[in-house]
Amino acid sequence: MGCMMQIMTMSHNIYIHVPFCIKKCQYCAFFSRACANPDWDEYARKIITEIRYFGDMLGKITVPTIFFGGGTPSLVPTDIFARIIDEIRGNFNLVTDAEITLESNPGTLSTTRLKEFCDAGVNRLSVGVQSFDDNKLQFLGRIHTKDDALRLINAGLNSGIRVSGDFIYGLPGENADDVIKTCKMINNLGISHCSMYELTIEENTPFGRMNLDMPPNETMAEMYMAIAENLKLSRYEVSNYATPGHECRHNQNVWDGDAYIGIGDGAAGRIFMNGTWYEELGGKKLLKPMTNDMRAIERIITGMRTKRGVLLDDDILHVMNIEFAKSHPNMLTFNGNRISATDNGLLILDDLITKLVK
Ligand SMILES: C[S@@+](CC[C@H](N)C(=O)[O-])C[C@H]1O[C@@H](n2cnc3c(N)ncnc32)[C@H](O)[C@@H]1O
Ligand code: SF4
Repeated sequence: MGCMMQIMTMSHNIYIHVPFCIKKCQYCAFFSRACANPDWDEYARKIITEIRYFGDMLGKITVPTIFFGGGTPSLVPTDIFARIIDEIRGNFNLVTDAEITLESNPGTLSTTRLKEFCDAGVNRLSVGVQSFDDNKLQFLGRIHTKDDALRLINAGLNSGIRVSGDFIYGLPGENADDVIKTCKMINNLGISHCSMYELTIEENTPFGRMNLDMPPNETMAEMYMAIAENLKLSRYEVSNYATPGHECRHNQNVWDGDAYIGIGDGAAGRIFMNGTWYEELGGKKLLKPMTNDMRAIERIITGMRTKRGVLLDDDILHVMNIEFAKSHPNMLTFNGNRISATDNGLLILDDLITKLVK
């Protein structure tokens, strides 16, 4: 039975959600709440209980990546962070070169605390820069300045870990010139990864209630194309750019359809156990079995966002309209046993995916 369990399990990535922020930004609908002083001991107890639950359920499976996302993971006290990592090491087989990412808000992380996070295992830092313009940062409701973000990026680079920056473009009044300026500054920073997000107006956020005068779609498309033309990093997913080899392994694995455990309130996961895939809602410990078709459609939705594209295995071929793909070479391209969207295709991706699924 033990041997059988081993055959039927596979490695799982781990996502840990930290649902607290100092203050909610004007645009953000992520699952987090403003809380200056969360009860961190209670948070740790919950996270550790969930880690043990999945440890008991899955056995000592291999863990190639851990991603602390939020909310604001850089708010977590570093001793509690270290306890969580220890607990993962105790329950799972955390590989020696595991990628451990910490999402951070520059208003919450000093160089001293960054070093403590690194000592506890963090080897990849994602910095929420958003903009290099202090007026725009204020408009977005950020708690930090451009200089705070630059300081944190440099502290990360000096400590030898991989550093990524998150940026938001397409603010009211912006055009391609603004995004080109941002790209040039990113090129000078020496970071090997960045995420460039088009500002999305979400319901139930202050921006959602403000009737903002957003740039027209053509301007947004020009900005999107200007990013690929001006950044030295290569686009490897709709919103993500990296020096080859410096892609976020955690996200790559998830987009590729690998298993991952979601831990903490608001975290989702995809568990593979005894030959069956399960949808997992973190915190609720609810596991819903998924059919092969559901999994395949999900792999198309996430994989088509990436340059690598989707592996054309039997499950995918069962749900994909290959004739449609073959008759639209301007939008879709075949590369060996994979299919991916061309740059033209990426611009209308949602529409494309709807047509690609039978
Ligand atoms: C969880 S946050 C990153 C860490 C940290 N909370 C911070 O903001 O600095 C993930 C990223 O999503 C992006 N984001 C969130 N809401 C967005 C929106 N409505 N439109 C565009 N980008 C958004 C931001 O760039 C943000 O850095
Ligand atoms: S963007 Fe980041 S800091 Fe701002 S509210 Fe969202 S999760 Fe919190």
